[in-house]
Amino acid sequence: MNLRFLSVTTLISESGCTVELSEHLKTFKATSVFLVTDAGIDKLGLAEPAITSLTSTGLRVTVDTQVTADPSEEQILKIADHAKRVDSDLIIGFGGGSSMDAAKLVALLACPDQTQTIEQMYGVDQVTGNRLPLIQIPTTAGTGSEVTPVAIVTRPDQTKSGVVSAKLIADMALLDASLTLGLPRHITAETGIDAMVHAIEAYTSKRLKNPISDMHAIKALQLIHGALPKTLSHGDDLAARGDMLLGACLAGQAFANAPVAAVHALAYPLGARYHLAHGLTNALVLLKVLEFNLSHASALYAELFAALEPDQARGQSVDKKAAMLIDLLHAHISEAQIKTRLRDHGVNQRDLDSLASDAMQQTRLLINNPREMVEADARRIYAEVW
Ligand SMILES: NC(=O)c1ccc[n+]([C@@H]2O[C@H](COP(=O)([O-])OP(=O)(O)OC[C@H]3O[C@@H](n4cnc5c(N)ncnc54)[C@H](O)[C@@H]3O)[C@@H](O)[C@H]2O)c1
Ligand SMILES: [Fe+2]
Repeated sequence: MNLRFLSVTTLISESGCTVELSEHLKTFKATSVFLVTDAGIDKLGLAEPAITSLTSTGLRVTVDTQVTADPSEEQILKIADHAKRVDSDLIIGFGGGSSMDAAKLVALLACPDQTQTIEQMYGVDQVTGNRLPLIQIPTTAGTGSEVTPVAIVTRPDQTKSGVVSAKLIADMALLDASLTLGLPRHITAETGIDAMVHAIEAYTSKRLKNPISDMHAIKALQLIHGALPKTLSHGDDLAARGDMLLGACLAGQAFANAPVAAVHALAYPLGARYHLAHGLTNALVLLKVLEFNLSHASALYAELFAALEPDQARGQSVDKKAAMLIDLLHAHISEAQIKTRLRDHGVNQRDLDSLASDAMQQTRLLINNPREMVEADARRIYAEVW
């Protein structure tokens, strides 16, 4: 079969590895490192050991904490200007998907020979120029952004757009589970569901499903299915945190090469308009989108259920196993204590039409859905979960 599988050049997974960050960065021969993060992470001091490691070897380190959740275009441009002003020659994304996505675009925009504007980069494979060396250090176990070619930006019109380019895949990703020990319960839950959705949508991706992504998706789901309940009940369980971080990263590798679909297409308008967390918006529409897809994807959902719960799956029909996968995800969402109605999160019933119309703009995602989804389907799904 023809396939193309891209991923990060170097992946290091070791709790505490950011304490020796300078060792890991030696090969890049940087002099002026620019670390992109958000104020919450800065306040927690999560990056301090990494920064100390860098400065102790004489590197100049500039920390920019301007990122906020679902980073805006304006913010990203400001951060990139800052990176240029201090002559950065290596960019580190340190945080959740918001910080890592911002860092990807900063690495492009602050590159001295950059000729494109951010406007010209939106869409798939539109990036033409080079970027600065890029290191990603996730502090949530969710987006997998540390290994994906995607950066999601909130545009001035409050829609979300993606820059998708192989050039956005980092040179190195460091998974340090100790950074995630203090992740609040609701963020653990929401980001964990996001990672599960990445794996499921990659496994059923209509256009680019491939055996390497499948392997990553299955292992990701197994790790997260086992570890998510443990991290919710005992946030300080380092082994479970490690499984979550690796699981989210593997799910990222899966969907980096077999892209996500309608769950994300319906989630993005909710995030852009109501500023709801990305994982939460996925959780809100997940079960109904999977039900919608059953007529076209039940065999694949059945395979995933069998990989997660082989004993329960034994002897069951395909349809039954597919239904059991949806029940299993429902159980995770319930355990996470996520309120599942749109109205619980301030969504106005009057907005359902325009949400459905916005979801249809996510054509780069909808083309991957196993079953074609039109605006009336999206409208009905939003109404069902309202
Ligand atoms: N690039 C991709 O492939 C991809 C995939 C999915 C989503 N996304 C994007 O990623 C963004 C969401 O990222 P996210 O879900 O990781 O959340 P986030 O980066 O927005 O962070 C959410 C909150 O968690 C806090 N936080 C992060 N790590 C913490 C820690 N260890 N301890 C305590 N608090 C911590 C942050 O300060 C922030 O307040 C969205 O913009 C979404 O569109 C990108
Ligand atoms: Fe996602």
